[in-house]
Amino acid sequence: MQLLKSSAILALAILSANALPAADRAAAEQRGLLDDIQITDDLIIFDSPAFPDPNNPGNTLVQLQSFASLRQIDLGVVSSAVSAFLGTLGVDVGDSLNTLQERIRLLGAIGLPGKSATISVSGCVNEVETGETSGLPNLGMSIATASLGDCGSATELTGTASLTFLDNRKISGSIFASPDSGFGVISDIDDTVKISNVLDTLELIKSTLLDEPKAVPGMPELYTSLAASLNKPQFVYITGSPFQLFPFLNDFLDSAYSTAKGPIFTQNLTVIDPVQAIQFITNSNTQAYKVSQIDRLQAMYPNKKWLAIGDSTQKDPEVYAEAFNKGVAISCAWIRQVEGADNSAERFATAFAGVPPDKFRVFTDAEIPALANIEVAGGEC
Ligand SMILES: *[C@@H]1O[C@H](CO)[C@@H](O)[C@H](O)[C@H]1NC(C)=O
Repeated sequence: MQLLKSSAILALAILSANALPAADRAAAEQRGLLDDIQITDDLIIFDSPAFPDPNNPGNTLVQLQSFASLRQIDLGVVSSAVSAFLGTLGVDVGDSLNTLQERIRLLGAIGLPGKSATISVSGCVNEVETGETSGLPNLGMSIATASLGDCGSATELTGTASLTFLDNRKISGSIFASPDSGFGVISDIDDTVKISNVLDTLELIKSTLLDEPKAVPGMPELYTSLAASLNKPQFVYITGSPFQLFPFLNDFLDSAYSTAKGPIFTQNLTVIDPVQAIQFITNSNTQAYKVSQIDRLQAMYPNKKWLAIGDSTQKDPEVYAEAFNKGVAISCAWIRQVEGADNSAERFATAFAGVPPDKFRVFTDAEIPALANIEVAGGEC
């Protein structure tokens, strides 16, 4: 753990250099303390949602999320710490070391505050700034709302960062634009669209860090059919996973759910120690976080109706019911019944208290194909 300790010290040194009061920011910028993404930095542009500007017809707003960190130098040290930890749990990394290194690349990332980047967005009038990445508690993360101007009618746009001279990386992310009307689909990821075995810690760790991801059989076809029957709904994936898993989840959705792509809202997690990050992944309590992200969507698209899809392992029924009872226009909630979870009638009755019975449905895997025949756009559920 020697390196982990010294990285913590390094991170603190960077923080104190950059955690300046706003008034000193301009001066600091002039001295070159707060700056653009350098060749020694990394930047992630997350897949982000775009929506119409309520105050300015024709203008598109984006809530652009980005994360700046020190570019990783020694992945070997992080992966041996993680392998050793997995060994104590009885998980053998075996020949999956390359996969492990790829998946945990960000778990040891050291976020950088005070960074900003100019992003040009294909097809839109304006370039946008990512917004200054924050200090603690969400070190290096930024979620900023920016005006893209007129983006025409394209729904999937690409935002690409302008980097410094000589830095020839291409850093980009997708921006999904959708009108404030029609339907959207809010979807969980783990055990709803992807087999994660959330209820079994060891299996969850394996499926998250070592194994090739597998779609829940039938769900990709269902999402393809929803993309048509709901007339290009905005798909939004709200997951309790930390942002460090974004590249993995994004690649999975891009390949297994290519007809149902959309922004992925992940949790902020600031840890320097990758072992703590794995503990977070296996213990995350997500209800308040997920409801807050549905509120965020509701503010962007106050006139959209939503089909909410989740599963019975964690708190999706409670989350979707809470959002419905707050007045979010959830037309219908579908809950995948996962073996081993609390699937009792009492649980669902309690979770969905206040929600009319014809607004939610608990389904088994055998029922997945038939879900495509339900006319959600016409008000069925
Ligand atoms: C994550 O961090 C960003 C940047 O500080 C912040 O704007 C956002 O609200 C945080 N999200 C949550 C769910 O706390």
